[in-house]
Amino acid sequence: MIHLKINTCIVNLFFITLLFIQIFASEIAAQKFDKLALTPPMGWNSWNKFACNINEKLIRETADAMVSSGLRDAGYIYINIDDCWHGKRDSLGFIHPDPERFPSGMKALADYVHSKGLKLGIYSDAGNRTCGGKPASRGHEYQDAITYAQWGIDYLKYDWCDTEGLNPVGAYTTMRDALYNAGHPIVFSLCEWGNSKPWTWAKNVGHLWRTTGDISACWDGKVDHGTWSSWCVMKILDMQDGLRQYAGPGHWNDPDMMEVGNGMTANEDRAHFSMWCMLAAPLIAGNDIANMSKETKEILENKNVIAINQDSLGIQGFKYSVKDSVEIWFKPLVKGDWAFCILNRNSKPAVIDFDFNKEKVVDTIFDKDTRFDKIIYDIMDLWTKKHVGTTKELLKVTVPRHDVFMARLIKK
Ligand code: GLA
Repeated sequence: MIHLKINTCIVNLFFITLLFIQIFASEIAAQKFDKLALTPPMGWNSWNKFACNINEKLIRETADAMVSSGLRDAGYIYINIDDCWHGKRDSLGFIHPDPERFPSGMKALADYVHSKGLKLGIYSDAGNRTCGGKPASRGHEYQDAITYAQWGIDYLKYDWCDTEGLNPVGAYTTMRDALYNAGHPIVFSLCEWGNSKPWTWAKNVGHLWRTTGDISACWDGKVDHGTWSSWCVMKILDMQDGLRQYAGPGHWNDPDMMEVGNGMTANEDRAHFSMWCMLAAPLIAGNDIANMSKETKEILENKNVIAINQDSLGIQGFKYSVKDSVEIWFKPLVKGDWAFCILNRNSKPAVIDFDFNKEKVVDTIFDKDTRFDKIIYDIMDLWTKKHVGTTKELLKVTVPRHDVFMARLIKK
């Protein structure tokens, strides 16, 4: 009789302990890693330039070039391997890198990248197969998260191919919890192309979310791939309308990786880069870093323009006005400064007279007011790196075709 009681006691204790473990586990699982991506993440990703033609040599050489080119010191920290690094799952279901492309393994690659003062990112997908047809994470989320943690991975881009029947909120939350449980801080980048409006639900799930389909290295319009289309830079820009209220430190709208250096003109690249900075977008370069031109390097490494993107307020800029395909953008910055950008989408130069004193520029969402009637700002041209007057005077500029005039308005 006493024996039976002791046994029941032990069994009860066992179940109570289990219950506590479960409650505790769901407690610690119900969050993303905080204090990451407090400013938009900066780095490089293999997809836009190299697609599936990747291997460990390319990643190592890119890491070397990130350092020697000055990109790392300009803030580009993440080296992100996109699709097609995968080999097979083993008999226990653990994923391994392609042994021919990544013979040294991911841990060794991560160690190398870390030794350069950089961080390593990787790619998976919520479905059965990635967009490139490789094994994805559906049903293996916890296992994959543990594997990435063991390798020392710092950033995960998580795609949305082959996900029929899956609910995006559930699928991305599962991976968030798996990553958190694995215990290694990791930036979680949702790549669901904006289909289910992730900006409305992903603030506590990931650190950034794609707002659109894929970008292409072209100025305006789209590229037809048969069953799907990718979008030129200006189209992607237009798709950001109405989303700025959802972005902020630790949770960013992601208008896709950059195409700077991938075939547009230098003017177009400069405009693309400037607008991604005005949008507080993640700055993930997508070009061949080891072989980039001087012009590309100068665009990507313009510290004053990067400072607009990395401003610690983390407020996404807004389109203030449009006339004859010329757009005027503003972005509130720390200490009462503002970023100011004139984007000329025309195929001829635009001659602009801008009278700040006549404009009432108010950001009602984030409660900021330029007060041009009361406050005088110095105008610092961020591309020529020259002071060009103050907001008390009329600003006269000619903006080349497909280019920008971008300035910091410095509160006096
Ligand atoms: C999708 C993503 C791209 C890239 C490819 C890889 O199209 O949106 O950014 O990751 O998959 O196959």
